[in-house]
Amino acid sequence: MVKTVGLIGAGAIGTVLAEAIEQKLVNCDELVVFDIETTKVEKLRALVKFPIKTASNIDELLATNPIVIVEAAGQGAVREYYPKLIASDAELIIMSTGALLDLQLTPKVHFPAGAIGGLDALLAAANAGINEVTLTSRKSPKVLFKSNTQETLIYEGFAEEAVKLFPKEMNVAATLALTVKPVKVQVRVISDPQITRNTHEIWVKWHYGEMQLKFANQPHPDNPHTSALAAWATIRLLQDLLKHKEISQTLF
Ligand SMILES: NC(=O)c1ccc[n+]([C@@H]2O[C@H](COP(=O)([O-])OP(=O)(O)OC[C@H]3O[C@@H](n4cnc5c(N)ncnc54)[C@H](O)[C@@H]3O)[C@@H](O)[C@H]2O)c1
Repeated sequence: MVKTVGLIGAGAIGTVLAEAIEQKLVNCDELVVFDIETTKVEKLRALVKFPIKTASNIDELLATNPIVIVEAAGQGAVREYYPKLIASDAELIIMSTGALLDLQLTPKVHFPAGAIGGLDALLAAANAGINEVTLTSRKSPKVLFKSNTQETLIYEGFAEEAVKLFPKEMNVAATLALTVKPVKVQVRVISDPQITRNTHEIWVKWHYGEMQLKFANQPHPDNPHTSALAAWATIRLLQDLLKHKEISQTLF
């Protein structure tokens, strides 16, 4: 059976994913890509040697029967294609987690830790009870479309609102919110002219202690909104899902 992976979005994350397949970090036979900008797919095809199939729309992508589909396009794409995606047989990896806060999740919907980590510890603590989660994200003014020359707090609120105001920056807040649900995630966004890396600090107070997690991620050179770690986290989750599929096909 041909192991096909579907990809929606041939941008920064999609490109790292295609390169990982080329380097055989991901064990699949075929990659089918759909991007509303066809030039993006052409650019990707020129970059890697293994053959990439192009789909012109979501139905064409689904018709290739991918076993896993990776969404790396945007919150709008998730909302638009979600009904068709969850009706398919594919496992789904959703990168634009901000969109998932308003959608009904099913067991086939997966999301990676993305630009952060430590979700295993948060899930463990959630069983005992989490009292508070605060995310403080620092990015450069340029990325946040600001021009401040001093460190400035530009937003304070909750994850649900943050993902709408900063759709490209706050998937991390959504990922945390999905993990600790129904606990509310407090968010602070700081525009920091000194910063060279996208920094996320997470503070958690739970029943038996506290946690402090900090990630200082190099931005992706093609898309400074996106941290390189997010792409590598997608690859890791894709490896796991493909391996799991392989095992279940051997068993049944
Ligand atoms: N979960 C996380 O921690 C995390 C981290 C970084 C980025 N992200 C999110 O992942 C997504 C992809 O990130 P990226 O850096 O690769 O973005 P990108 O802008 O570099 O690439 C997105 C690509 O998707 C295409 N696209 C947009 N809308 C589409 C649609 N409706 N249908 C098909 N293609 C469409 C664009 O043409 C573009 O080529 C973004 O939503 C980003 O915010 C999540």
